[in-house]
Amino acid sequence: MRLRSTVSIFARMTALAQAHGALNLAQGLMWLDPDPALLQIARDTFTREGSHQYSLPTGDKSLRMAVAALSEHFFGVSYDPEQEITLTAGATEGIFTAIMGLTQPGDHVLFFEPAYDSYLPAIQMAGATPVPIRLHLHPEGVRFPWEALPARIDSRTRLLLLNFPHNPTGRTLHPEDVRALEGLAATYPHLLFVVDEAYELMTWHPDPLREEAVPPLSLRQSPVLRERTVVVGSLGKLVGATGWRLGYLLAPPTLTEALRTTHQFITFCAPTPLQQAVAQYLSSHLPERATYFHQALLERRRFFVEQLQAHTDLAFIAPEGAYFLLLRIPSPERDTEAAERLVREGGVATIPLSPFYHDGYDPGWLRVCLARPLEMLEQGALRLSRAFPGGQSTAHPRE
Ligand SMILES: Cc1ncc(COP(=O)(O)O)c(C=O)c1O
Repeated sequence: MRLRSTVSIFARMTALAQAHGALNLAQGLMWLDPDPALLQIARDTFTREGSHQYSLPTGDKSLRMAVAALSEHFFGVSYDPEQEITLTAGATEGIFTAIMGLTQPGDHVLFFEPAYDSYLPAIQMAGATPVPIRLHLHPEGVRFPWEALPARIDSRTRLLLLNFPHNPTGRTLHPEDVRALEGLAATYPHLLFVVDEAYELMTWHPDPLREEAVPPLSLRQSPVLRERTVVVGSLGKLVGATGWRLGYLLAPPTLTEALRTTHQFITFCAPTPLQQAVAQYLSSHLPERATYFHQALLERRRFFVEQLQAHTDLAFIAPEGAYFLLLRIPSPERDTEAAERLVREGGVATIPLSPFYHDGYDPGWLRVCLARPLEMLEQGALRLSRAFPGGQSTAHPRE
């Protein structure tokens, strides 16, 4: 299907920030440089003969092996590089390939909103029917309404599309979510799961003042779910080089066959020299290399929360994973109006959440990207608190 032409909220807020000279805490781009060791390996790979043509469509074997080692090391779950791992041009292609490869036109795909912006168009382009379900957002945390799913599942439902750690809320997968999903898997044997784990290793202690990463939880660790799940990963996020367009799909052999059939006709393969460079980088020092950004991100989360609390009593949801914080809008403005006013008058750009809903529902929150230099976060917290004088004492009209 042909998509409606729109400018994404990320591009719109970034352009507005540039026009007004505002701090850009909007776009999700990490403003952190990759490890110099990775860049050196990439330079070497680019000057090597034999790295410049197509790789196998399944991906360069060395990188499939590195991805298998990653899963083994951090999740204790093995995947066979020959039959269960496929490399893609970023998680974005992985998501599209999974939806396209596993659905027929008319199949239903359930997903939660607020949702990462590629899900809805990917479902629509596949000719499938999107079935959005709203998450519950509260300053105390984000809840998945698993109990609401049976009413939305029938014989047409093919996929449940999930995302942990979740963009934009920072919610990670909890053991009770796994139990609920196992229950759904048992009740609905025709249901498959696609989980976008683009931020898979970025999982933090729930107390934002503690600069501590905690072991990640993944659907793949449940033996029942592993057999019915496609895990989508982003190597670009992992190594802080999203422009390199590298991602992967993990799935049992029968599902992998369907994924590979589709993937070969979308991009054929991801860029060969970059696959080889990331393989070499990850295989040299696995835990340190794969967690290179953790300390910087934890420091930023702690710092921003401290700054916010020093200046205001605005309510917020600090991320349990990834690097976005949600800020409660205390005024009766619509979120898009509040975000635009913040840029024009407050000198700081954020992302309103309503564009993360298919129907423009406004839950009353703004997303702040924490992967920024500390000075920028310091200024950002100050400007946000000035733009909302009075903080959360104003009753929120949406409740
Ligand atoms: C939840 C989520 N999934 C997927 C992606 C895209 O990842 P990639 O750059 O590997 O395509 C992003 C990027 O921001 C994301 O936030």
